[in-house]
Amino acid sequence: MVIPSVPAAPRARSSAPSPRPGDGPPRIPEGRLPGHVAVVLDGNGRWATGRGLPRTDGHRAGVAAVLDTVDGALQLGLRHLSLFAFSTENWRRERTEVGEVMRLINAFVTDHGDWLDQRGVRVTWSGERGRLGADMLRGFDAFQARTAGNSRLDLTVWINYGARDELWRAARHLALDSAAGRVDPALIDAETFSRYLYRPDLPDVDLFIRTSGEQRLSNFLLWQSAYAELLFTETLWPDFGRHDLWAAAVAYSRRDRRFGGH
Ligand code: IPE
Ligand code: MG
Repeated sequence: MVIPSVPAAPRARSSAPSPRPGDGPPRIPEGRLPGHVAVVLDGNGRWATGRGLPRTDGHRAGVAAVLDTVDGALQLGLRHLSLFAFSTENWRRERTEVGEVMRLINAFVTDHGDWLDQRGVRVTWSGERGRLGADMLRGFDAFQARTAGNSRLDLTVWINYGARDELWRAARHLALDSAAGRVDPALIDAETFSRYLYRPDLPDVDLFIRTSGEQRLSNFLLWQSAYAELLFTETLWPDFGRHDLWAAAVAYSRRDRRFGGH
């Protein structure tokens, strides 16, 4: 199902977002709010080329959309937000584009770290560290440590992440622990397995959003999204923001989740 895009509200798309006075989030009963929202940010390239701009401008505009969405998540009272910033497959893109995305991810901390920290956002980076630069990892680790005590919103930025990658690494690690006698293979169950994922402490995804009209999961949080409600919107990521997140949360609150029951 694709929901029509919500008309974009006029807002500054430059740096830190500023909500308009009196512009509040929808009231959603506590139990109907998604605990963990995962978003596949898609459409940056099309947003830029549609304007005759280089694709990298789309990624820059995408950062402003991230900030507006995070601010909207804070206003809504979301607990966990996962953003798919860079996949294990994204390395296939042109070098200049990959370089610009990495630069923007780095700049995210430098330019907006204070803003995130002051608002009580705990930021965690998840994914396979191997291919990322040492400087980048040092910056991530330092910022992660700085915000570790924050508890208003748990924001996970997934970089160099692929669900199959995560799952085979978990399986290999578990197999090694079994072979070493640290785990009894006969007792392995879903709970044991999930302890080997990148973020064992993260609850399952309740609401999985993808922008830009594509209706695919694209290898994002496959284990964690087993029972997620899926929501696809035509809105291109740079046009996405707090109002779209709120509309998605309202749509979610009206869904009937049965988890295989009746
Ligand atoms: C998402 O937008 C970018 C990343 C998260 C790296 P795209 O770059 O995939 O945009 P399209 O799909 O080409 O429009
Ligand atoms: Mg894309």
